[in-house]
Amino acid sequence: MYNSNNNNNLQEKGKFLIETFGCQMNVADSELVAGMLQKCGYSETRDLNQADIIFMNTCAIREKAEETVHHRLDSIQHLKKRKPEMIFGVLGCMAQNLKDDLLESKPYVDIILGPDSYRRIPEIINNRKKQNGHEVDTRLSKYEVYDNLMPSRQDGVNAFVSISRGCDKFCTFCIVPFTRGRERSRSNESIIREVQDAVKNGFAEITLLGQNVNSYRTEEGKFPHLLEGVAMVPGVKRIRYMSPHPQDMDDHLLQVMSEHKNICNHVHLPLQAGSDRILKRMNRTYTKTEFLNLVDTIRDYIPNCSISTDIIVGFPGETNVEYEETLEVMNKVIFDRAFMFKYSPRPGTKAAEYSDQIDEVIKQKRLTRLIDLQQTHTLKANQRHIGKVLKVMVEKESKKSPQQWSGRTEGNMGVIFDKNDEQIKDIVDILIQDAQGVSMFGNRVLEKEMIHEVN
Ligand code: SAH
Ligand code: SF4
Ligand code: F3S
Repeated sequence: MYNSNNNNNLQEKGKFLIETFGCQMNVADSELVAGMLQKCGYSETRDLNQADIIFMNTCAIREKAEETVHHRLDSIQHLKKRKPEMIFGVLGCMAQNLKDDLLESKPYVDIILGPDSYRRIPEIINNRKKQNGHEVDTRLSKYEVYDNLMPSRQDGVNAFVSISRGCDKFCTFCIVPFTRGRERSRSNESIIREVQDAVKNGFAEITLLGQNVNSYRTEEGKFPHLLEGVAMVPGVKRIRYMSPHPQDMDDHLLQVMSEHKNICNHVHLPLQAGSDRILKRMNRTYTKTEFLNLVDTIRDYIPNCSISTDIIVGFPGETNVEYEETLEVMNKVIFDRAFMFKYSPRPGTKAAEYSDQIDEVIKQKRLTRLIDLQQTHTLKANQRHIGKVLKVMVEKESKKSPQQWSGRTEGNMGVIFDKNDEQIKDIVDILIQDAQGVSMFGNRVLEKEMIHEVN
């Protein structure tokens, strides 16, 4: 664990454990909360039985995400019987979404905090310790960006750095604008400082995070300006960003990406649907043609760019013909990877009110077919690399064999190869020899062989 908040002079107040659900934003938030707790004298444990405080950092994006947390909370409730002074807290999007209602079904929960209330965690814990009862804070802020709080990151090669919070896009299916509040950007300077700090602590890859990462803007500049600044921080070997919105992709951003070698040739470009009528009903603000043109522009600027996506099937009113249009766009683009979901109505959002909800059986059929198609596309995209040399960052030992490494391409795809003298976090040239499932297999091309090849 890398953490600059450790203060050995503090008397240990107890142990905490955080379980994180949902997106990378939540992973980054959990690291922020861990950093704050360590700073005021708590230490982290991974053993539920040892914990004095257990936080669940939760997600509300689909019904299933909330169900998972409900089950998890019920399954650890017994711990409190053995240790009544133990504190249970629910953080994040589901806490924000359900607020006090959560207490009706889960009266054993002590603390409920929304994503903009984490600065108050030490105070809230103290309040709870002083008197029994529930502590709830789900106020959303227009300003909170958690500047100057140092996260306590998990070991690894990648550091998540959140650059903005909230979302103002209001896609009609999405709960995020309600759980995360209004969009706001962190200062350029504090982001760069956090990146420098992450490099100092040994992280080689930086992933910039925001619900709408590319609508980042401050007085100093917009997202491409920030991205360029991060690319120039010495020691940053790779940069990724998640998730951009197609509406906010522009030439300047693609220009910056093409000019800096350490910015990965990868764009996650959520399509959501292929029909113009459905896109409009989703309030996605682009048409099918605009999306396809954008894909072409990306490939013009960055010829080997990987493109991944998110897709929802069974949005209210989606006809078979409209669903087929989604498949058609997939066939045209051949996404390297896709995250695919059945539409899940979220109470409070506009689409949940639509009267033409799609039958569950149809949704499932559409999803299964979509997943099957994407599997063939991922394999096809990976097979295209066979015979080519890709830059792979060494991440960890392969699960299959201690003689092999597992690494990632710039396009964020896994590659397995035999060990040589390279170390974790090195970027090496791998000649791709095979592709299976979502993985590729290859061999290291040593420098001498490269020179030989060129000659
Ligand atoms: N801000 C990101 C996405 C955040 S949510 C963006 O705009 O791309 C991640 C994905 O979950 C979305 O892209 C969408 O595909 C899916 N999603 C969001 N709400 C959903 C819902 N109600 N039902 C099913 N999938 C949903
Ligand atoms: Fe949700 Fe749309 Fe905002 Fe993404 S852009 S978080 S899908 S409202
Ligand atoms: Fe889930 Fe909240 Fe992220 S709803 S996907 S944890 S922003």
